Amino acid sequence: MRTDSSPQTIFRKDYLPPSYLVDTVELGFDLDPARTIVASRVTLRHNPASKSRDIVLHGEALELVQLRLNGKTLRPGQYELSGSTLTIRKAPLAVVLEIETLTAPVKNTTLSGLYVSNGNFFTQCEAEGFRRITYFPDRPDVMAKYTVMLRADKALYPVLLSNGNLIEQGELGDGRHYAKWEDPFKKPSYLFALVAARLVCQEERYTLQSGREVLLQVWVEEGNLDKTDYAMQSLKNSIRWDEQRFGLELDLDRFMIVAVGDFNMGAMENKGLNIFNTKFVLANSRVATDIDYAGIEAVVGHEYFHNWTGNRVTCRDWFQLSLKEGLTVFRDQEFSADMIGTDSGRAVTRIDQVRTLRQAQFPEDAGPMAHPVRPDSFVEINNFYTVTIYEKGAEVVRMYQTLLGRDGFRKGMDLYFERHDGQAVECDDFRAAMADANGRDLGQFERWYSQAGTPVVRAETNYDAIARTFDITLRQHCPASAGQEHKLPFHIPVAVGLLGADGRDLALSTDAKDRQGQATVVLELTGEEQTFRFHDIAERPTPSILRDFSAPVVLEYDYTDAELLHLFSHDSDPVNRWEAGQRLAMERLLKLTTAVATGKPLALDATFIAAQRALLVDETLDPAFRELALILPSETIIAEQMEVVEPQAIHSARQFMRRTLAAALKPELLAQYHANQTPGAYSPDALSAGKRALKNLALSYLLIAPQEAELALARQQFAEAGNMTDRAAALVALIHSGAEVGEHLHSFYQDFEHEALVVDKWFAMQAAAPGTDVAAVRKLMEHPAFTLKNPNRARSLIFNFTNGNPSQFHAADGSAYEFWAEHVIKLDALNPQVAARLARSMDRWRRYTPALQAHMQRALERVAAHARLSNDVLEVVSKALA
Ligand code: ARG
Ligand code: ZN
Repeated sequence: MRTDSSPQTIFRKDYLPPSYLVDTVELGFDLDPARTIVASRVTLRHNPASKSRDIVLHGEALELVQLRLNGKTLRPGQYELSGSTLTIRKAPLAVVLEIETLTAPVKNTTLSGLYVSNGNFFTQCEAEGFRRITYFPDRPDVMAKYTVMLRADKALYPVLLSNGNLIEQGELGDGRHYAKWEDPFKKPSYLFALVAARLVCQEERYTLQSGREVLLQVWVEEGNLDKTDYAMQSLKNSIRWDEQRFGLELDLDRFMIVAVGDFNMGAMENKGLNIFNTKFVLANSRVATDIDYAGIEAVVGHEYFHNWTGNRVTCRDWFQLSLKEGLTVFRDQEFSADMIGTDSGRAVTRIDQVRTLRQAQFPEDAGPMAHPVRPDSFVEINNFYTVTIYEKGAEVVRMYQTLLGRDGFRKGMDLYFERHDGQAVECDDFRAAMADANGRDLGQFERWYSQAGTPVVRAETNYDAIARTFDITLRQHCPASAGQEHKLPFHIPVAVGLLGADGRDLALSTDAKDRQGQATVVLELTGEEQTFRFHDIAERPTPSILRDFSAPVVLEYDYTDAELLHLFSHDSDPVNRWEAGQRLAMERLLKLTTAVATGKPLALDATFIAAQRALLVDETLDPAFRELALILPSETIIAEQMEVVEPQAIHSARQFMRRTLAAALKPELLAQYHANQTPGAYSPDALSAGKRALKNLALSYLLIAPQEAELALARQQFAEAGNMTDRAAALVALIHSGAEVGEHLHSFYQDFEHEALVVDKWFAMQAAAPGTDVAAVRKLMEHPAFTLKNPNRARSLIFNFTNGNPSQFHAADGSAYEFWAEHVIKLDALNPQVAARLARSMDRWRRYTPALQAHMQRALERVAAHARLSNDVLEVVSKALA
């Protein structure tokens, strides 16, 4: 909680090297939920790179019992305690600090630092949680070797884990026991972790490519041991993949994953002891969907890959967060794509990434919390674990690979580790490694790190039939964002192909003599405007621009319907094929929305319906691709295209389109429903998951205005499904159709009330149903299974309503905004990080109709005026109101 009145903004330009470096840290924990004693012995030495001789330690929510410097106890006047810093002035060059502090883990509802979840102890230290455990220079550029002694009641906490290797364990008498862990690698404090718990593990000895054997463990609560196989398999796949793709080997003898039910984010890459939200560990076919399985593979990969990109080479300061996060997201994306293995499978993962960017990152980049991939300032670092840092950051890393090629990218990675292993570095160091390893000047590329906002690339083309040339002129501009009025041109790779009238790629010859005859060329747009010429073009082609989404930009090109239909049925680049369908749908959705708003009649043209039909039944295409191509742009994405957002009109327009397609395509939908069944034992592989996705999309369409036969299908699927994907999909379809909802919801709950992650789904599907208004959400909050204290549960109901149910969240009377304000405030008193995420549901408030804006402003002001807000929430609401 904030103690002074105005929160401090921290600026990147104010970075100073640490005054003291830490060599070793010895930590002793006497674990007790109400009163844990932490004894720390830290050896420090003055950093020659610093002019200051003051030792600055951070501490929060701690009771300081004792502080000794080189053996002598310091009394209050000999150090300064203010806010969350403890300063010892004019310290000697070499210092041993002994610090004893007290904390109350059971009272720690923030889930940052040391806390209790279901009776067990866990830690979360990134970004600044270590300071809630002991006083320490809690910054990522202070790296030290840790030895950790854990003491706890043996019956209650039989398992005692920390980073690195277990070097000693034994009994203490009194029913207590101890374990001593040593991490052989230097690390920043944010990578520290401990677990003291009643848990069991699935373990396996695994042989690395080098022949070295390692121990892999997945720790869970006893009842969940039947849900660890996929996480373990994903871990082994990750280890192998990093060896093969990047030549990076696991550097420890032991690697542990621990699942915890109360967790603010997805997972955490603590050295050798990854701690995960149960959502990203636990799976079997009964409780987890295909999407859950994919999430587990991605997050296990992500955290494992951090061992090199994050842990071995870490961040100098938190402004560099994307150095590790953007790079590691890119690595987990490539891992997931490689695990599928086929080109079309890769494309499906790529399309998913583009959808996430448009759904979440583009709006962020255009809203009050917009920030560059490497921010210049922040109030609360926890607010900067964003889609910009993660997903846009991954796009920036991907562009290196697009520009340098896979081999060039690998050379850059190799040089990065050669130069920086064991160091805390900056985004610029990564860029320099990429440039130097490839002899390229990537100076202009730096703007992707320093300028916020989504660049808009406008394309125009000109075909000269006599000269047989085709020119593409690209113009770029980037809208202003807070503190950045005028942007300089970005270095943008624009992958282009040209389709002939027969739908095939033309062999391209450009002015770049080295790359002739290819189907796709990467144009490098570096100026504000550039024209690229293609030679020997015998007919006017249809351009396929920004293939594979080669840069995180908005592409504007005045495609005709005929061109889009041509691309939608023929483009060899699946991403642009999908994109053509999205453009066709978006144009119509925007017109329909206007028609709804102005009371005009609604209609959908036969051409569009025919194109959707042709795609739906095209057996040459993967089911997974067809499913993605048939999903209409979301209400959120439609809203982003509008000058003034009218959520109800958008909802009605999209529903109209869905209803019309469902009616027109009914026989085909039914046929696909039956053709894409996956009988036999459940397997989460991409092909089966794709079939289920297409089948369940068909089902959802068939249940839009269902007759008895369709209802029977859904009921049967719900009753007989052999896996959660199909069961949940049938239930969602039934809920959305409004038929017999209560009975099915009840039986689903009965079947799964002891599976927390399934209960989350139960809340989530109701929260996002168009029939659920704010009164219904309030009612659900009274359900005995609901609690605000568990982030997964709070998100399942509240976030899925505020972010996933726009037509109800934006109810005309503003009642849902009041609900939002109330819960931001309530959550903030428990868990500021989660509250601040909820606060962001209001980011785009200025884009709504004046009446809605007025309601939203009032709700924002109500939160802002609350007396005891965290810095987290205060930063979000004050930026929204600014
Ligand atoms: N580094 C973690 C990851 O893998 C995220 C942890 C952030 N946690 C937090 N409370 N800010 O992406
Ligand atoms: Zn990460």
